[in-house]
Amino acid sequence: MCGIVGYTGGKDCVDIIIDGLKKLEYRGYDSAGIAFEEDKGIDILKAVGRVDNLEKLVRAGKVKSHCAIAHTRWATHGKPSVLNSHPHCDCKGEVAIVHNGIIENYDELKKELSSKGHKFASETDSEAAAHLIEEELKKQKDFFKAFASAVKKLKGAYALAATYKNAPGVICVAKKQSPLVIGQGKGEYYLASDVPAFLNHTNKAIFLEDGDLAKITCGACEIYNLAGVKQSRKVNVIKWNPATAQKGGYKHFMIKEIFDQPQATKDTISTLPPDIKKAFGITPAAARKIKGLYIVACGTAYHAGLCAKYVIEHFAKLPVEVETASEFKYRSINFQKDWLFIAVSQSGETADTLAALNNAKQAGLKALSICNVVGSTITRASDYTVYTHCGPEISVASTKAFTSQLAVLYSFALNIAKEQGSLAKTAFDKLYKEFKNLPSLIEQTLKDAQQIKKLAKAVYKSNSYIFLGRNAAFPIALEGALKLKEISYLHAEGFAGGEIKHGPIAIIDKGMPVVALAPKGELYEKMLSSCQEVGARGAKLITVTNTPLKGAVEVPYTNEYLFPILAVVPLQLLAYYVSDLRGREIDRPRNLAKSVTVE
Ligand code: AGP
Ligand code: GLU
Repeated sequence: MCGIVGYTGGKDCVDIIIDGLKKLEYRGYDSAGIAFEEDKGIDILKAVGRVDNLEKLVRAGKVKSHCAIAHTRWATHGKPSVLNSHPHCDCKGEVAIVHNGIIENYDELKKELSSKGHKFASETDSEAAAHLIEEELKKQKDFFKAFASAVKKLKGAYALAATYKNAPGVICVAKKQSPLVIGQGKGEYYLASDVPAFLNHTNKAIFLEDGDLAKITCGACEIYNLAGVKQSRKVNVIKWNPATAQKGGYKHFMIKEIFDQPQATKDTISTLPPDIKKAFGITPAAARKIKGLYIVACGTAYHAGLCAKYVIEHFAKLPVEVETASEFKYRSINFQKDWLFIAVSQSGETADTLAALNNAKQAGLKALSICNVVGSTITRASDYTVYTHCGPEISVASTKAFTSQLAVLYSFALNIAKEQGSLAKTAFDKLYKEFKNLPSLIEQTLKDAQQIKKLAKAVYKSNSYIFLGRNAAFPIALEGALKLKEISYLHAEGFAGGEIKHGPIAIIDKGMPVVALAPKGELYEKMLSSCQEVGARGAKLITVTNTPLKGAVEVPYTNEYLFPILAVVPLQLLAYYVSDLRGREIDRPRNLAKSVTVE
């Protein structure tokens, strides 16, 4: 979660750093701070709350600097406060560090360092790193070597950056589990938790791997492993347009990203030819040996996995187990070695998903990851990776990543069904053709945004909302409810249509909005019956279907397993408009972080 930004080079970096911190605001944070190198030494500024508060201090101080490290904090150890905000310093104020993650052995380190006379100023785990570097500097003058020795003593997860008064222009960094990317400019280097922080300045990105340490100066970036062996890491050219990381005229990132979906799915589908080897890197022979699938993910990505279960079971006739990563990792599973493990994650950094993936890998399973962030930790831990090509998703509430994840999983279902012989070539070709048309169907669906806005106006005063779906549309009911509760803070729940009569119907009250997903097909009538049941109890019904029905929201007609990808769009819009009418801070909902990198 939260973020790190850094710069070393010839420019005055004040604006670069502030802008970088703002670009990382989507990650969720409670306070922010910067350590600027200045002629007189290291100048540290910190503020609780928004980066804007910090910016005011920086502007008032008329700071000028060519080397800085900065941080947005999402507190894990010690309350959000100026004192606990990063950067943290050693006793002499000569070493400054910023840290994302958790130092698990901080208590032990703190005791040891305190016994050696170190004075701690904060309640954080992170501060131990600054004192540890100070201690190592007593043994060796070389900043990087002292930094490396200190890092070796840390346990836990870290993206760590440090500067030292006596090594001007040098930033030392280390990475384990938390993300850290270096941006390469001309005679300058950038540092960030995520690419958008420096994308306005350079599109060349070096993704550090776990166990990497780097010494960054304006002219060089040397990377080593913990044993001191030099590492070479690829310089990736990021094709994202900096404009895609901006709001582009929309009121919020979330609504922009909802409207990005035709393009995001188009870009994603363009990398998914009807060929399992080309699209997924899995050979037809290997595909035929797959006997089942574990799909593991969190939150919205979990809903994509749950939806895929229905699609894969229907087309490929393979058993699929889907579970939230935070629970999956605790189970004593007798892993089936000939099952494929699939991890779905927008960020590719979700700690729970990574832990589950590592369990499966340890058990000897092959793993496929579906991620949006190139080079992210989950992709590196997988045997196969397929990217969703959504560009950066800034809004905490995931939208375009979800529809693109569904698209990848749908393509996977059809491709594996073909390889397993459960889908004949002609049926496959027909379904794939329909699938390729999905982006334009999403575009068509978005044309009804005004209708959804009107519906939102009619219901937004309600404090409780119910979503119903059956079969592959059931996970979409869950996702509709999650979206609404994440950004509106209102009570919302998703249920299987057939389940409502077994209990939840008790809460239906006069005027309570109930959103029912009713695609034309086998379950259409059944869903209408569920609507009758709740309607009779006074619910205010909003039906989403793909066939003409009076008063309903109509999405384009497709087969019932493609319907979920279209049906979620009006639900995203409903969540957005209700929350906007309620005046919520949509892109940065309270208590939530974009990327949850702690278990
Ligand atoms: C989405 O709206 C959520 N904020 C959240 O549920 C998210 O989907 C979940 O934390 C998983 O994130 P990931 O896709 O980056 O792994
Ligand atoms: N654990 C550290 C703290 O609470 C860092 C949190 C973060 O990743 O921002 O200060």
